[in-house]
Parts: sequence; structure tokens; C-alpha cells
Amino acid sequence: MYSLKSYVLVVSLIFIPFFANNFLVFVNSITSSSGNQYTTFFNAISSSTNPKASLNSGKNQTTSSLISSSFCDVWDVTCSEEVLGLAQEPDNVEWIKGLRRKIHENPELAFEEYETSKLVRSELDRMDIEYRYPLAKTGIRAWVGTGGPPFVAIRADMDALPIQEAVEWEHKSKVAGKMHACGHDAHVAMLVGAAKILKNREHLLKGTVIVIFQPAEEAGNGAKRMIGDGALENVEAIFAVHVSHEHPTGIIGSRPGPLLAGCGFFRAVFSGRKGLAGSPHHSVDPILAASAAVISLQGIVSRESNPLDSQVVSVTSFNGGNNLDMIPETVVIGGTFRAFSNASFYNLLQRIEEVIVEQANVFRCWATVDFFEKESTIYPPTVNDNRMYEHVKKVATDLLGPPNFRVVPPMMGAEDFSFYSQVVPAAFYYIGVRNETLGSTHTGHSPYFMIDEDVLPIGAAVHATIAERYLNEQG
Ligand SMILES: *[C@@H]1O[C@H](CO)[C@@H](O)[C@H](O)[C@H]1NC(C)=O
Ligand SMILES: *[C@@H]1O[C@H](CO)[C@@H](O)[C@H](O)[C@H]1NC(C)=O
Ligand SMILES: *[C@@H]1O[C@H](CO)[C@@H](O)[C@H](O)[C@H]1NC(C)=O
Ligand SMILES: [Zn+2]
Ligand SMILES: [Zn+2]
Repeated sequence: MYSLKSYVLVVSLIFIPFFANNFLVFVNSITSSSGNQYTTFFNAISSSTNPKASLNSGKNQTTSSLISSSFCDVWDVTCSEEVLGLAQEPDNVEWIKGLRRKIHENPELAFEEYETSKLVRSELDRMDIEYRYPLAKTGIRAWVGTGGPPFVAIRADMDALPIQEAVEWEHKSKVAGKMHACGHDAHVAMLVGAAKILKNREHLLKGTVIVIFQPAEEAGNGAKRMIGDGALENVEAIFAVHVSHEHPTGIIGSRPGPLLAGCGFFRAVFSGRKGLAGSPHHSVDPILAASAAVISLQGIVSRESNPLDSQVVSVTSFNGGNNLDMIPETVVIGGTFRAFSNASFYNLLQRIEEVIVEQANVFRCWATVDFFEKESTIYPPTVNDNRMYEHVKKVATDLLGPPNFRVVPPMMGAEDFSFYSQVVPAAFYYIGVRNETLGSTHTGHSPYFMIDEDVLPIGAAVHATIAERYLNEQG
């Protein structure tokens, strides 16, 4: 998640030739470098709850004495205790932390997650869990359960970021300039931990859990390629988690409906006819056309969109001309757009193109718009299915106790989990890793990013229970 920064960097690279020409800045040459800061946020809700202490607050002394089906087809406190007990076994905790540390020390960028994938597969082999490999180059589709329907999927992303780790600790990244600064190392460890719990409870599963390890969440749409390679075959619902520095360790947060924005980038080339600025009637001026387009683009959200349906169109780059006495041949502008519904997102895309092309025509220029679809920089919004969201909420509340579940506001960040959520009912949720004592308070993509590793067994238990209970409740 928070995947945008790296893409803005890619886009900036594409713009370099234009920046390079900007020796002069005057009427015919307007330059504004694109802002690379894309900050994700939501208002931290301060909390006095200690989820680790209240991990077992889901225990219900009233009901734990009631007769419970040991098959857990009706979930009760005993079932929660069993799963948490497995997850919190000291050996298991050491193992899962060890996995995460190994991955943290050897971060691999998008579509290069060879060692990470190998480590996951060796763990799956040791647990006797079958899988298909490779999907999308380094991805894995493993399964636990009956082998028959229903099929429910849980997913983790494996890629790291091109960031130099600034946290000094024993298991700091050993690869210069690369770091697990978004917590995908923890995602992998929690999912392997979940696979272990599920394998242990395989006799209780009333269907099949598909365990998906995907490459390239940060850059390149690994999810899209995983789907293309069959990751979602037969799957009727999918769930995934992201660590969050906004919430104390172990707290689960989610919301129904739109959770993360759709995000796209655009670049438009306005072409006119070069000419001496002193005789403008002999030229066709792309500076004026592009300027008009920038103004008109601001009318899309302000005049055409429902004010209650959050959307953004930002022009972040404007480049053209390098001679104060010449009207240039071309001007290139670029920017980004965000929206929380699929319809609004694709409507923005269409209107951005129309406005640019039509405004170019007004001034006798012509324009082409590129949305970098080939480079996979388009992420649709991540929209939680209401039923799947309710499932996550119920599982988290029963397993960890009601104080450890929060409804969170939507965020402007983007996630390629959205591609799965476009295909099958899905829910995405956060798990807190914030611990002031440890200093795990930095946002994803910060070189100071770190997690409270005590989250790992909790995350594994939540993943596993979401899957097991989903299967139980389909019958
Ligand atoms: C415990 O069970 C009782 C009786 O079923 C119920 O009223 C109460 O809400 C439960 N508490 C929790 C924390 O689940
Ligand atoms: C989102 O919109 C695009 C373009 O209209 C469409 O192709 C796609 O199927 C839509 N996805 C969903 C989940 O509605
Ligand atoms: C933070 O981490 C420390 C050290 O592991 C631990 O003692 C403390 O309980 C943690 N605090 C929370 C709120 O989880
Ligand atoms: Zn990220
Ligand atoms: Zn992420």
C-alpha cells in the first residue's frame, strides 16, 4: 500500500527530458516540478486500549462453560482460544518472527522476490502444503483444506521498496538501497503463520483455503498478473491485511465500501506549430492551449462531481519551450487523479482525456493523453464488500475482543488488492503495529518504518480464522 510514491518517481523519470530543457522560464515556458510527496493519512484515533493485554478479552467466561462443538462449525470462545493458543505458542512465535526477520534482511523489489518466494515455498514444503508456482513470476498459490468448494482466499504481498533503511537494529536490511518499509515482510510471515494454523486445523475446514503470495504490490500491479495466471480460480471471496502505524499493536481496522482510493496518472502532449513569438499569427500556440486545459481540468471535480463523492484531479507538471522569443512546437503536462468509486474513477479518466483533447482543439492544437496503462500505474479503488467487511469485523471482535476492532475512515492511498476486489467480493483491513515504546510510529515508506513484531502471531490468527469461519458459514 501507499504505493504511489514509487510510481511518482517512475513518472518523474519519464519527465526528465522535459525538465532538462528548462533553462529559461518565461511566458512561453512554464515549469513546475511535480510534487513527489504523497502522504497517506487518517486521523489517528488515540486509544488507551492495550490490545495485547486484552488479546483474550474475546473470551467469554459466560459462554466458555457452555457446550461447544469442538468442530467449530458454530464458532465459540473455545475455538478462538484454540486458534490464539496455536498462534501464541512460544516456538511458533519465535519461528514466525524469525521468518519475518529473514525477509526483512533481504528485501527484494517488485517481480524480483525470488528468495522470499523460495523461503515461503520451503516452509510450505515442510508443512506438507501443496501449491502452484510460479504465478506472475514469483507468486505462489497454495491450498489447505478439502480441495473442494467453497474456496476462500487470503493474500499477502512480498515486495520491498527502493529505500535505504535508517533503522539501526540487529536485523536491518542487508541490501543497500532496499527496505521492507511498507511491512510486506510482516504480511508474508503472518500469512505463512496462518497457513500453519490452517494446516493444523485442516480436518475442521469445510472447503479450501487458497493462500496467495503475490509479487509487486508497490509497482507493477502484481495482483493483476496473479489474476491473469489463475490465482482466483474458483475463489469466491478474498481477504487481505495491511500493517498500520496508526493503530496500537493488534488492533484491527476496516470499513464497509470504499477504503482506499483509485489512483491514476496522466501525461498529455499538446502539439501546435512553432513560430516567432513576435508574429503569433504564423504559429499555433500549445502554451495557450495547455494553459486553458489546466484551468478546465479543475472544473471536472468542482462542477461535475458530487461533492460528497471525494475526487481529486491535480496537474503536477507543465513543460514547454526554452526560447523566450519562440512559440514552442509542443507542451507536455501531467498529473494524477483519485476517486473512491469505480464509476467515478473511470469517469475522471474519460473526462480528463476529453477536456484535454477538446481544449487543444479550441486553440487549433491537437493533444494526446497517456494514462500509462501499459506501465500498470492505474489502480482502481479498493472497495470492501459489505458482507465480507461484516465477516472481518465479526471474526476480529470474537477473536480479539470488541475494543480491538475499529471502523476507520477511507484513505487516499491505493492498493493493488483492488484488482482482486473487482473480481470477487473482498475485504481489506488493517492491523496495528504502533508501539510508542518500541518507536514503531513511522508511516509506511519512511526509512524509519518499523513494526512491533508482537503483531505477527495475532495477524496469523486473524487471517486463519477469517478463512476457517468463512468456509464454515457457507454451508
Ligand atoms: C458473553 O456472553 C453473554 C451471554 O451470551 C453475552 O451477553 C455477552 O455479550 C458476551 N460477551 C462478550 C464479550 O462476547
Ligand atoms: C470498473 O469500470 C470499468 C470501466 O467502466 C469496467 O471495465 C470495470 O468492469 C468496472 N469494474 C467494476 C467492479 O465495476
Ligand atoms: C510495546 O512493546 C514493549 C516491548 O516489547 C511491550 O513491553 C509493551 O507491552 C508494548 N506496548 C503495547 C501497547 O503493545
Ligand atoms: Zn507500500
Ligand atoms: Zn504496502
